[in-house]
Amino acid sequence: RAGPAFVLTEDFIIIAHRGASAYAPEHTLPAYDLAVHSGADYIEIDLQMTKDGELIALHDSEVDRTTNGSGLANAHPLDKIKALNAGSWFNEQYPQLANPAYENVEIPTLEEIFQRYGTAANYYIETKAPGMEEKLIKLLRKYSLVQSKSKVIIHSFHSKSLRKIHKLEPGIPLIQLYKYSDKARLTDTEIRSLKKYASGIGVNFGKVDEDYIKKAHRHGLAVHLFTVNTDEELQHAVEVGADGVFTDFPKKSP
Ligand code: G3P
Ligand code: CA
Repeated sequence: RAGPAFVLTEDFIIIAHRGASAYAPEHTLPAYDLAVHSGADYIEIDLQMTKDGELIALHDSEVDRTTNGSGLANAHPLDKIKALNAGSWFNEQYPQLANPAYENVEIPTLEEIFQRYGTAANYYIETKAPGMEEKLIKLLRKYSLVQSKSKVIIHSFHSKSLRKIHKLEPGIPLIQLYKYSDKARLTDTEIRSLKKYASGIGVNFGKVDEDYIKKAHRHGLAVHLFTVNTDEELQHAVEVGADGVFTDFPKKSP
């Protein structure tokens, strides 16, 4: 089919950015547990792929910042990735939030996350690079996560990746990410292109104004802002008409 499958929820959504990443090591099960218990509408998961083709939850292409390992994630097979410590860095960096339970946490696979929360959570998944779409869709199907409206949203800076997903599973809402360094502008050409596959746009907070969001809405595109971490920013996001925010401090919708 030609266009996006359906319009996203009309409610303002809270997306737990890398889990509840202000309180626990990002992209670990403790961070996702806290996010789910916070009542956030979605848990956000960045995806990287290991050398042996497993999908894992990791923001950076390298493991250095958030583990005791080094090098590209895709240079290591899953067993090496699972042997890394993904929590000690957090205890060292945030001693006031340190928790002994974080000392032994691993990088989770996407499958482990689906096994833990199943259909009880909503997932907002980012493909960090093209080439992981088929594996992702296969896993979503295996865990019955593509049958329910907006249970899963997929986002990416890579339109190629989103277009491929749209071909494989046109029912999944897709969010095209943009990062603006100056005032955000949405051209008619971009809108025409987006409407072929996307349900909305994810944009860095601080560069968009009400007019930008109104223009997106006129074309049926939702706008989610990243990363919104203070009450003032959240209030501003609501005031300019955003449809949701990514936040490291998830709590229930305003
Ligand atoms: O996923 C939306 C936003 O999180 C993109 O930024 O760098 O945190 O993945 P990043
Ligand atoms: Ca992300």
